[in-house]
Amino acid sequence: MLNFTYFNPVRVVFGKDTIGELANLLPKEVNVMMTYGGGSIFKNGVYDQVKKALQGFAVVEFGGIEANPRYETCMKAVELARKEKVGFLLAVGGGSVADATKFIAAAIPWTKGDPWEFLVSHDPRVPEAVPLGCVITLPATGTEMNCNSVITRASTQEKYHFSDEKVFPQFSIIDPQVTYSLPQRQVVNGIVDTFVHVMEQYMTYDVNTPLQDRQAEGVIRTLVEEAPKVIENPDDYDVRANLFWCSTVGLNGLLAVGAVQDWATHMIGHELTALYGLDHGVTLAIVLPELWRFALEHKKAKLKQFGKEVFGVDYPEAAIKATEDFFHRIGMKTKLADYGVDASEAAAKARERFANRGTVLGEHGDIDAEATYAILSRC
Ligand code: NZQ
Ligand code: ZN
Repeated sequence: MLNFTYFNPVRVVFGKDTIGELANLLPKEVNVMMTYGGGSIFKNGVYDQVKKALQGFAVVEFGGIEANPRYETCMKAVELARKEKVGFLLAVGGGSVADATKFIAAAIPWTKGDPWEFLVSHDPRVPEAVPLGCVITLPATGTEMNCNSVITRASTQEKYHFSDEKVFPQFSIIDPQVTYSLPQRQVVNGIVDTFVHVMEQYMTYDVNTPLQDRQAEGVIRTLVEEAPKVIENPDDYDVRANLFWCSTVGLNGLLAVGAVQDWATHMIGHELTALYGLDHGVTLAIVLPELWRFALEHKKAKLKQFGKEVFGVDYPEAAIKATEDFFHRIGMKTKLADYGVDASEAAAKARERFANRGTVLGEHGDIDAEATYAILSRC
């Protein structure tokens, strides 16, 4: 097992009718800025629940944060927050709203020029951030219990992330009932995103981490069992609760401790979203199988273990096929052509970007521009 430090300060409040807890979690003495997305919270009653809990607090609202949140929109929120002297941020929405709010939190006190810098720089440590909390409405990213944020710059079609302990939410409220209103497309995106988060922390090479392996396999087995149920019976609370907890645990850092991580599927996927606007989960379902086939030699021992433990198959190739079959079973398509994107064009564009940036990915540092071209050409 590799050395590690694990730190996670997020208070998780999980369960039915928990949004009212906000009244006990928010600081009373500061102005609160509530951030949200394109309006789903008005339709499913979440806005009303939050507003009820916020009675007596000084609240400014900032709505209209888009899926794959844009730097340009976040900077408008930063301007408003500075003007209103906001001292606490409350994100109400999916991963995009939460990620945007983390970026806003770090950008408000940033005085060293353009905050875009801490997304592109290799030393992304931010000196301070406005504290934040979260009412998360979509099980997928794990952002409610981690300190990552992924932001897109629309003008240059770039999607970058930063990670900093100062943007851990102080608390996250997870009421699985709020997910009843999710369109099936987002439910499936979330299942695939969770699946791939776990794989990025597991499907590498063995450094003797049997507990972390069993935990990762446990999350995936639960996903594989629960996913068909949510499609068949979307109003089943227990299924919704299990799926949400899978996604939170999938990226709260615990699965990764002491293990070797990959993240190449995510980094290539981010380029596909930046270039073609494909949903995050969609890009992962497209890239993962071909990346595994490309890296088969390095990953075959772990693929074999995964295939046996999760799908009951014997060979690495069969584990990849079983994963694709699982994605297809839940209604996720796995080829660029399914979304009207030409694979060779996407491959060439990603190769050019990675070559210009000197990007090198993967647990062996062998997924470079040319490798990315080879992988995406087969997608
Ligand atoms: O904008 P609104 O109207 O709220 O609608 C959203 C959006 O259209 C809707 N939605 C959310 N909760 C809902 C709901 N609709 C009905 N009922 C609800 N309860 O769903 C749509 C998608 O929402 P979004 O927040 O974009 O989805 P998700 O949670 O999948 O977040 C995706 C973003 O997170 C980033 C992705 O790159 C992408 O930008 N990621 C963040 C990570 C992190 N912070 O650790 C890790 C991930 O790998 C990922 O990169
Ligand atoms: Zn993801």
